[in-house]
Formats: sequence, C-alpha cells, structure tokens
Amino acid sequence: MNIHLQEADRLKSIFLASMSHELRTPLNAVIGFTGIMLQGLTGEINDEQRQQLTMVKSSADHLLCLINDVLDISKLEAGKFELITADIKLDDLLTEVLNTVSPMANLKKLPINTDIQEAICLHSDSRRIKQILINLLSNAIKFTEKGSIKISTKLKDKTTLEFKVTDTGAGITSTDLKRLFQPFQQVNSDLTKSQDGTGLGLYLSKKLANLMGGDITASSEYGQGSQFVFTLQSNSITINSREIAAVVV
Ligand SMILES: Nc1ncnc2c1ncn2[C@@H]1O[C@H](COP(=O)(O)OP(=O)(O)OP(=O)(O)O)[C@@H](O)[C@H]1O
Ligand SMILES: [Mg+2]
Repeated sequence: MNIHLQEADRLKSIFLASMSHELRTPLNAVIGFTGIMLQGLTGEINDEQRQQLTMVKSSADHLLCLINDVLDISKLEAGKFELITADIKLDDLLTEVLNTVSPMANLKKLPINTDIQEAICLHSDSRRIKQILINLLSNAIKFTEKGSIKISTKLKDKTTLEFKVTDTGAGITSTDLKRLFQPFQQVNSDLTKSQDGTGLGLYLSKKLANLMGGDITASSEYGQGSQFVFTLQSNSITINSREIAAVVV
C-alpha cells in the first residue's frame, strides 16, 4: 500500500514538473512580446493600450513566478532538485536582495534597517538564498502597515550562518503559526486576501533551507509583529578572507 502511495506521489511530482516546464515556454512568449510592444518597438501605442498591456505583462509575470514555484516544489518532492553552488560575497548578495524589495517597502514608507556583518564569504547557492530572503522580506513588507522591517545576519558557528527578518506588522496567532509552512496556506485571512500571493513561498523556502542543511522558523506576537529565522550550513565561511574558526568565539 505504502509503495503504491509513494509511486503515485512520484508520478504526481513528475507530472507537475513536466506540466510546469511546458507552460513556461508559451508564457515566456507572452511576456517577451508584450515587453516588445510596451517598448514601442512594433509601433506607437496609446495610453489605454499601454495600461492594458502593462496589466497583461504583470499578470503573466505573476503566473510565471507561480509556475516556477510549482516546478521547484515538484523537483524538491521528487528528490531531483540540485543546488548550484559557488563562492558568494554576502555583501553583494544582500545588496541585490535589498535592491529588489526596496521599491515595495518605499511604496509603503517602511524603512528596512540592516544589521549585517560585513565581508563574509561563503560557498553556497546564491540564487536560492536570494529567493528565500526575498520571500521573507516581501512577506514582512506585505503584512506590515506601519513601523519598520529589519534584516540581520549572524554567524552561529564556523559553518552556520543565520539571517533574521523582523517586522512590526500584523503578527500571526499561535494556531496559525503551526500551519504556516504548509503549501497553499495563507493565514490572517482578512489581511492576506488583500495581498498578492499563493501561499507557496514559505513552504518552498523551508524546503530549500533544509536542502542547504538549515531551516526556517517563525515566532510572532499577534498584533505586534513577526520574526523569521533562516539558517544555512556552508563548509567554507570566511570573514575578511580569514577562516572562521579564528574569528567566531
Ligand atoms: N511576516 C509576516 N507577518 C504576518 N503574516 C505572515 C508573514 N509572513 C507570512 N505570513 C502569513 O503566512 C502566509 C504564507 O506565507 P507565504 O510566503 O507562504 O505565502 P504568500 O506570501 O501569501 O504567497 P507567495 O509567497 O506564494 O507569493 C501568508 O499568506 C501570511 O498569511
Ligand atoms: Mg510570500
């Protein structure tokens, strides 16, 4: 019985992986050609056409993100996900992450404070670390109306790096905290309904963190704000090019 279930699960993951793959090709054409029209490369467009094409492009971008998440999840569940590792300068990675989420925070006039240990290098998958941090920070921004957001980094030991994302937003009840990392789970129903999202971000992020030998945990005081801690393991963390063993106390 168990073997049948495992096989069904494996087939489901393979089906989802190939479906998502097939959906991306036409969607990329929609995004590409809409972009070309918006740039005016196929002739002048009027304001109304611009507005409507912008809506097409943003819906298609959103759908592509969703498909990419489903593809990642099915690969992770089928055990076919591979990390692509390289040497990373943490400062550069965090600058990219902050550049991505700042426009969203600026719109809501939310400052993003940082407490980041400088000159850390590590060997890991930068695309996936960025994906996790962007999800945690965009969640923090989405679910915070006033106050601020904070991101900090800390070396826990010579192979463990910790990121903390804190906000002063809606918070999460203790019951909701328990189902936060399940797929398609969106808690805080009133607030969440008014926001973009599918409820896959945390589920996928936690799986990715686990694959990097780490984890994501959440704590919150309802009405006061939330804190998400993301840890990852890397064998070769250095500060200012020095081996970490000499630096961590
Ligand atoms: N910082 C936060 N403060 C309050 N609630 C949060 C916070 N982060 C996540 N949540 C709650 O957890 C739910 C799941 O988060 P998750 O990132 O998985 O999904 P999403 O942001 O709604 O959609 P997606 O990330 O797939 O676009 C959110 O819908 C929200 O209800
Ligand atoms: Mg999210």
